[in-house]
Amino acid sequence: MPLETTTVNLPKAEIPRTWYNVLPDLPDPLEPYLTPAGAPVKPEELSAIFPPTLIEQELSPRPRFDIPEPVLEALSRYRPTPLVRAVGMEKALGVSSKIWYKNESVSPSGSHKTNTALAQAYFNKAAGITRLATETGAGQWGTALSIAGRAFGLDIRVYMVRISLEQKPYRRTIMNLMGAEVLSSPSDLTVAGRRAKAADPDALGTLGLAISEAVEDAAGRADTNYSLGSVLNHVLLHQTVIGQEIKSQLKAAGVAPDYLIACHGGGSNFGGMAAPFVPEIKDGAKITLIAAEPESCPSLTRGKFAHDYGDVAGLTPLLPMYTLGKDFQPPAIHAGGLRYHGASPIVSALVKSGLVKPEAIGSPELFRYASLFARTEFIIPAPESAHALAAACMKALELEAAGTPGNIVFVLSGHGLLDLAAYEDFINSYWAGSPWAFAATVQGRARRADRNCPDRRVRRVADRAHATRRPDAYDALRDTEEAESGRA
Ligand SMILES: Cc1ncc(COP(=O)(O)O)c(C=O)c1O
Repeated sequence: MPLETTTVNLPKAEIPRTWYNVLPDLPDPLEPYLTPAGAPVKPEELSAIFPPTLIEQELSPRPRFDIPEPVLEALSRYRPTPLVRAVGMEKALGVSSKIWYKNESVSPSGSHKTNTALAQAYFNKAAGITRLATETGAGQWGTALSIAGRAFGLDIRVYMVRISLEQKPYRRTIMNLMGAEVLSSPSDLTVAGRRAKAADPDALGTLGLAISEAVEDAAGRADTNYSLGSVLNHVLLHQTVIGQEIKSQLKAAGVAPDYLIACHGGGSNFGGMAAPFVPEIKDGAKITLIAAEPESCPSLTRGKFAHDYGDVAGLTPLLPMYTLGKDFQPPAIHAGGLRYHGASPIVSALVKSGLVKPEAIGSPELFRYASLFARTEFIIPAPESAHALAAACMKALELEAAGTPGNIVFVLSGHGLLDLAAYEDFINSYWAGSPWAFAATVQGRARRADRNCPDRRVRRVADRAHATRRPDAYDALRDTEEAESGRA
């Protein structure tokens, strides 16, 4: 197979020069952000924590925004990022669908978060701000903003969710190396943090609480603004470089996508991928957009659509979004970047209008597919990104069983080289000694789920596993297969 059919690298000259604003193209206008009294938020009410340019980008119906030259220069250090065909994984799955991944893990922070961090740091610096306060869940966003702070000369303070800091101490090392200050959240430095600690001295922290701490910090100082790595419209706007590049790369490869998949925490990598495809989908293009979220924090699949606070303390405006409630305490899953009670207003609007299909992914199947990807594509995915890749694999197997292979693209939003504790847990708890058992199981499933499979009983289990996406159905399938291969 010629190399150019497995990796599409765009020349530097084709880096997108503008950000695409999906707001005017949404099927229904976005509902306004509200104050606690229920009035629409006015732009000037956001100016205590955001610079004017970002407020304009947040609310404007302008179809496109130019990317300033210094931001373009900084982005071009690692963009355009490659679009790669996961040939090894396709083979291991035994599928004839083509699976492509957009590799955002090549950014200096190891994830897509750098795309908006650079833009936010630049616009804050241009507005005369010298210091930014932020939160981080997985540590990827804090790392990205620390790098961006270094690039544009800003001091950075990061409130890092306590459980993530304990799981990933080396994230703090990188942030410190870049000159950023990192605090475990809940901290003693804010009212929100002290309250949370008083209520529960062992609190693990949540993204919502860390946001409260950072907003409180920024609102209390004239030299400081708040910076958010997801959820808001301007963040998704900056991430549209992802979807715009995917479009150009698919065109260069002569591929028409059937499924576009990304994981969903607050919605920035998903929104950045999906938004540029919205106009053509509205015009009838047969592309399915899938947002993959964790079963344990299912804001899009199980949340309700309502105006809710973006943080625990209720310091942010009320955002129109799918939410599990600001006080929802997600369990301490390894995908810390997906432990958020809400969802981006833009993605929520797309889900509500039926343009985006959310899917919840369970942990056991997640790490099985993540390890398959690592052993066939030789990149260890971030646990967050593994939600997208697991959804892509399951879609490929489902299409195989139905005899309708297609083109599947997913966003590898980050690498998992600082998430090895998660992989160690997986090896200890699920792998149980047989390195190839999982690949063999998946291959076996693909083979046996084939339409012509004579064994109806195995097909029934496979179909049920596909239909329910439940880990226990998957386990039932594996047990069936193991019993079968033992008999063979
Ligand atoms: C690698 C990676 N992917 C995805 C996410 C989820 O964020 P979002 O939904 O904003 O893309 C995170 C968040 O920290 C992340 O670190």
